[in-house]
Amino acid sequence: MVTLCNVVKDYPADGQLVRALDGVSLEVAAGEFVALVGRSGCGKSTLLNLAGAMDFATSGEVLLDGVSTNSRDDTTLTRLRREKVAFVFQSFQLLNTLSVVENVELPLLLAGVPRAREAALERLASVELSGLENRMPHQLSGGQMQRVAIARALVNRPRILLADEPTGNLDTATGTIILDLLRRLTREQKTATLMATHSVEAAAIADVVIELRDGKIAGIKRN
Ligand SMILES: Nc1ncnc2c1ncn2[C@@H]1O[C@H](COP(=O)(O)OP(=O)(O)OP(=O)(O)O)[C@@H](O)[C@H]1O
Ligand SMILES: [Mg+2]
Repeated sequence: MVTLCNVVKDYPADGQLVRALDGVSLEVAAGEFVALVGRSGCGKSTLLNLAGAMDFATSGEVLLDGVSTNSRDDTTLTRLRREKVAFVFQSFQLLNTLSVVENVELPLLLAGVPRAREAALERLASVELSGLENRMPHQLSGGQMQRVAIARALVNRPRILLADEPTGNLDTATGTIILDLLRRLTREQKTATLMATHSVEAAAIADVVIELRDGKIAGIKRN
């Protein structure tokens, strides 16, 4: 579902090039949960951005559900992103002026999907948030906010789920609830899930743990 072939990513910084990824090849299948670990600056977020068609590889190839992101054609990439990819972030990134159910409903309304409200309510039930539909984001706990963000990410049934430190702002117990949820939904919805994390506990629940070091794969472990 997500394939990287010998991907290099250079960023210009201070008149030089920083090599953020240095020849990375990997594959994430549908229904598979892959954790990306490694020290700060090793390239985890860069890899997620490329896997989400948010940015281009300097060389090598990224394929999402068999479609190359190399074309650099904005319309194609925006479509690819909208149809196949969902992101979950450390900071939740809910829209503060919309209620819980409106946040989850929004991707469906943007995609013109009928019966959006009903689908949003169903999604909220699947992350055990029934009853909180009409709250505003600031009236929720961190773990509840992250569950709303996950419901919103998955409401369009994306093939690819990318999570950047999804438990980074949560205590350990709440983090565990979020990780269990991500793992369950990855299997149920057969998404290809890639999660960047600093947490050993988080990596432990993944099917595969990939360690990055200086932009290269330094180790692969199957749990
Ligand atoms: N937009 C950018 N411009 C220049 N350099 C960048 C840019 N984004 C990332 N980098 C550099 O690329 C390297 C990889 O960064 P990246 O954000 O992927 O690391 P990370 O593994 O996600 O780190 P963290 O664990 O701190 O989030 C770092 O050296 C970083 O400074
Ligand atoms: Mg990062």
